[in-house]
Amino acid sequence: MILKLSSGQELPVEMHKARMVQKIELIPAEQRLKAIQEAGYNTFQLKTKDIFLDMLTDSGVNAMSDNQFAAFIKTDDAYAGSMTFYEFADAVKDILGYEHVMNVHQGRAAEHLLSKVFGKPGGVIITNYHFTTTKAHIEVTAGSVCLELYADEALKTKSTHPFKGNMDIQKLKDAIRKYGKEKVGYVRMEATTNLLGGQPFSMENLKEVRKVCDESGLLLILDGSLISENAYFIWKREKGYERKTVAEIIKEMCSLADIFYLSGRKNTCVRGGFIATNRKELFGQIEPWLPVYEGFFTYGGMSMREIGPMAVGLREMVDPSVAGCAIEQIKYFVEKLDGMGIPVVTPPGGLACHVDAKKFLPHVPKEQYIAGALTAALHIASGVRAMERGTISMDRDKDGNDVYADLELTRIALPRRVYSLSHIEYIIDRLKWLYQNRELIKGLKFVSEPPVLRFFLGKLDVLDNWSRKLCDAFKKDFGETW
Ligand SMILES: Cc1ncc(COP(=O)(O)O)c(C=O)c1O
Repeated sequence: MILKLSSGQELPVEMHKARMVQKIELIPAEQRLKAIQEAGYNTFQLKTKDIFLDMLTDSGVNAMSDNQFAAFIKTDDAYAGSMTFYEFADAVKDILGYEHVMNVHQGRAAEHLLSKVFGKPGGVIITNYHFTTTKAHIEVTAGSVCLELYADEALKTKSTHPFKGNMDIQKLKDAIRKYGKEKVGYVRMEATTNLLGGQPFSMENLKEVRKVCDESGLLLILDGSLISENAYFIWKREKGYERKTVAEIIKEMCSLADIFYLSGRKNTCVRGGFIATNRKELFGQIEPWLPVYEGFFTYGGMSMREIGPMAVGLREMVDPSVAGCAIEQIKYFVEKLDGMGIPVVTPPGGLACHVDAKKFLPHVPKEQYIAGALTAALHIASGVRAMERGTISMDRDKDGNDVYADLELTRIALPRRVYSLSHIEYIIDRLKWLYQNRELIKGLKFVSEPPVLRFFLGKLDVLDNWSRKLCDAFKKDFGETW
């Protein structure tokens, strides 16, 4: 919640109190250097003992509420027919308005089933922007091409456009004409587009996409992993929605999609996911595959003990102080950095503060994994674990060439209800130091990489021994320990 101070400044105040905490440690810079070297300059490979603030992701690391923990304990454990599942289905109906729902073990499992059932081998799947696992399933499971039809504004990291996650409607119509509707598996809209810097789409845009899908008889699938943030942005930014509630906006968004899925690791603060729809015949096409790949119909690969908390999480995510808790922290974070001239994605999005690595390190060529280098440097300078979202996160093409990402971002995610403003202030300070010393940061090269989703397991090394020099400069300014 935003509270106005007497100075006029707006302060994002947490509307919850911590009643259970976990100790964290900040190891000295020399050890941080050793840890990132051993991790092959890939922050996915770090161990949490070497991390001070874990801002790799907002996925599966959010703080559950007391009511969610209560639901965890109250679970009706059963392989089949658990009442906990039916309570969850009631929450899906109440909050999202869908009659039919199946759980899956996480978001990518939903993507697997949807690509398997509705993908057209040799065809295309259209989206406002890809997510890594989505693209992998579109290509590997559906055997299709992932077509991203974002508006031109989406790739401008410095912008005031309130809805950079919009789909370009003209490009959508042109693509359907070009490929033919029989070649299009489905149209996918991702809420609060993760890889575009957590940028939302507008309700107006979603309605237009719906209209085009209706005209062409195409399925519209909504990835609602970050739906409550997208709804919060619509509430704050879209004309005509300021008097609606976040709950009403979420219902309206859902009413526009044929099929909805989400990764429950984000908005609902548990581990799992689900697919939901009002179209029984579509549900019937997916359902037979559920026990093959996930689990029985009333648990679908999730632990029963997480399905109860997921139901509570769904009901809680429509509260604006929950839907907006990370957004308001991110706004504070981004606006402070922007004010200091440090290049960040604007307007502030949901999910994370995204640092524009291309502008931060203009001297590092794109062949040397710019965002990967900045992400590794941030760990050395602060113990903060962020995530590379750039070329390392793109797999090579079939000829083995790098596919250069549209954006090179260092994503500093804000898990919900976990970190405080003092943590954010600390990161701002260390980013400022890194920006002043940016000439010390050079590129990376791959040492080993798997053929798919290489950013998880790939190992890299620094060029020109820059990490040693950066660490020495840091110690000179801050001493051996911090
Ligand atoms: C928008 C979006 N869709 C799908 C996924 C995949 O979900 P999961 O990690 O639960 O498999 C993610 C994960 O971050 C996501 O952000």
